[in-house]
Amino acid sequence: MVLKKDSDKKIEKLQNLRQKANAAGGEKRIATQHASGKLTARERIELLFDKNTFQEIDQFVKPANTKKETGVLGDGVITGYGKINGRKICCYAQDFTVLGGSLSEISGKKICKLMDLAMKIGSPIIGIIDSGGARIQEGIGSLSGYSSIFYKNVQASGIIPQISIIAGPAAGGATYSPALTDFIFMVDGISQMYITGPDVIRAVTNENISHEELGGSNTHSSKSGVSHFSVKSEIDCFNMVKDLLSYLPQNNTEEPPTSTPINTSPLEEDPTISNILPPKISQPYDMKKIIQRIIDNDNLFEIHKEFAKNIIIGFSKINAQTVGIVAQQPLHMGGVLDIDASVKAARFIRFCDAFNIPILTLIDVPGFMPGVDQESSGIIRHGAKLIYAYAEATVPKISVLIRKAYGGAYIVMSSKDLCGDINFSWPTGEIAVMGAEGAINIIHRKQIAESKDPETLKTKLLEDYTEEFMSPYIAANKGLIDEVIEPKDTRSKIISALEILSTKREFAPQKKHGTIPL
Ligand code: HXC
Repeated sequence: MVLKKDSDKKIEKLQNLRQKANAAGGEKRIATQHASGKLTARERIELLFDKNTFQEIDQFVKPANTKKETGVLGDGVITGYGKINGRKICCYAQDFTVLGGSLSEISGKKICKLMDLAMKIGSPIIGIIDSGGARIQEGIGSLSGYSSIFYKNVQASGIIPQISIIAGPAAGGATYSPALTDFIFMVDGISQMYITGPDVIRAVTNENISHEELGGSNTHSSKSGVSHFSVKSEIDCFNMVKDLLSYLPQNNTEEPPTSTPINTSPLEEDPTISNILPPKISQPYDMKKIIQRIIDNDNLFEIHKEFAKNIIIGFSKINAQTVGIVAQQPLHMGGVLDIDASVKAARFIRFCDAFNIPILTLIDVPGFMPGVDQESSGIIRHGAKLIYAYAEATVPKISVLIRKAYGGAYIVMSSKDLCGDINFSWPTGEIAVMGAEGAINIIHRKQIAESKDPETLKTKLLEDYTEEFMSPYIAANKGLIDEVIEPKDTRSKIISALEILSTKREFAPQKKHGTIPL
């Protein structure tokens, strides 16, 4: 009989331990995970990362006071690093087959250690959440785990892009780490986020609601705005995360990646772009059609697509360079700025500013939304966030006034006095304190009331007002519009502006941080 060498025995022990850790919560729980339409944590990582690039760390971590039942090796979360499309990415994936992916003290430490690594090496971090929240059996230990993660999320904010994928329940503490990250993806049918589940709600407020209605992907992507993306399947979700990463730099000291140069000449004219505008100023049109004509290859990576549809935000490439786009959507509520639209755009602008992404603003806005509901819900406070975000941003800011820019909404949308760098206007641009109809009813009220033919008088007054007060040339006369451009030249003008602004440096006075009206 051949005796095994000491070293062989030790290697065998390592292999056994690995096998044990890889088995996670066991075959039965893995089968339940699949039966509920979900992939396992390991399967998710495999789909997300380039083949054989993911390296797991801390696989043998387990809670200190492990009883028989609790604490499988790894303790319910896989952490590590690898490559996505050749770029370094850190990732953790909670394993629902181990005590419902609940967070223990030590699994909290694992996640924090990975976040530290991501910050040190300057790589984006992705968290895949599938968790019942704080591990009940660990009490203060698990709460402390969450506090440390939240702290690290805030430290990492603006340093590295942080992305959360909700791929199962995210209950209690499991909601707030994603909420502190930059982007949240939810998968239809399997993802639910809530602070307290339907049972607690029933007991406390006597309301009856299903898990899906309360915290499903539809609720959070179209109503609450908590989630940025609602995706049909996990595979679609991982592909979309890869797409998102292709627009982002690794960290705040790097530039976003450039794409492969496109074939069409960047300075080609587009003689029919102005046909997108309808004949009358009061008629809506689809702003996305204008965006498509300006960007490379029609690719707008839209964010918050289903939330506050009156404003469009998203990443795109223009002449192969990443750009953050903010644009009104006249198809929805005439493109008016309300609370949700203001907050949606403000947060996006701050992300772009933190990660060196130039902002292109396309303007067609009738004003801030009037109404009792908006006023009592704080449109003053929330609208101020958008002013703050634009004024604070030091990345290149280019705007194109397509049609209307009235009142406060003119000011807020990257105007010259908020330090817009290059402000273009189409000849169809209109800038005024308010729309012509409202304005003449105020300043000529008496004259109209006393007129024998008020309709004819109004038509004349409207024409005069539009010509005298609203034309873009008045703003151009004051240097508040840098150039009135022909629509056909829009893309080439933007490309030139991006090029000239690529060396922009802006120095603000030293301060700890501003006091944005949250
Ligand atoms: C310990 C947990 C757990 C938890 C689930 N499990 N949540 N173990 N701590 N928080 C365990 C279950 O006991 C079960 O173990 C396994 O995970 C799967 O759970 P099921 O309930 O069988 O799964 P399912 O029916 O799919 O329901 C999933 C769920 C439900 C909706 C997430 O488990 C649930 O409601 N959990 C509690 C959610 C919650 O209220 N969390 C808040 C914690 S307070 P076995 O051994 O049977 O397989 C919190 C405070 C922090 O997080 C606040 C910071 C801001």
